[in-house]
Amino acid sequence: MAEVFFLKQAEKKQALFDEFNRCIVDLIDSDAVQKLEHYRQHRKTTRLKHSVNVAYYTYRVTKKLHMDYRSATRGALLHDLFFYNRDEANPLSDMQGRRHCYIHPRIALENAQKICTLNSIEKDVIVKHMWLATLACPRYKESFVVTFVDKFCAALEPLGIFKKFAII
Ligand SMILES: [Fe+2]
Ligand SMILES: [Fe+2]
Repeated sequence: MAEVFFLKQAEKKQALFDEFNRCIVDLIDSDAVQKLEHYRQHRKTTRLKHSVNVAYYTYRVTKKLHMDYRSATRGALLHDLFFYNRDEANPLSDMQGRRHCYIHPRIALENAQKICTLNSIEKDVIVKHMWLATLACPRYKESFVVTFVDKFCAALEPLGIFKKFAII
């Protein structure tokens, strides 16, 4: 009996993981997304791992809440699609005085639009993901989920305890 239960749980988990992969399959192998592996994020991880973590947990939450999980997941994967290490670059001089928190979502949006066509939810997810650090409030419920999942991952990743949740 217990065996059947665990088998069903494993099948359910695999089905969710397969669906998550189908949401991002055309994006994950793109050069731009793969390039994120070369950039540190939150000290203990890479920007690619962080982006996949945010995408995966966004998928799980938005699916559970019957939201547009595909758009939310795709936006989440692309939310930090920028190519500089925050501690190495000088965002203040390089970006005409605009703060990193404000500017990097806009750079990510620009880069994301080079690799795929984005719908309005995906655009909002990317450009508003720094809400609370910036003033622009998300327009869609999916974007709110991503802002909180991003903060959850950002809080755990520097502690190194997030590794057990990492899926790549
Ligand atoms: Fe970000
Ligand atoms: Fe992020």
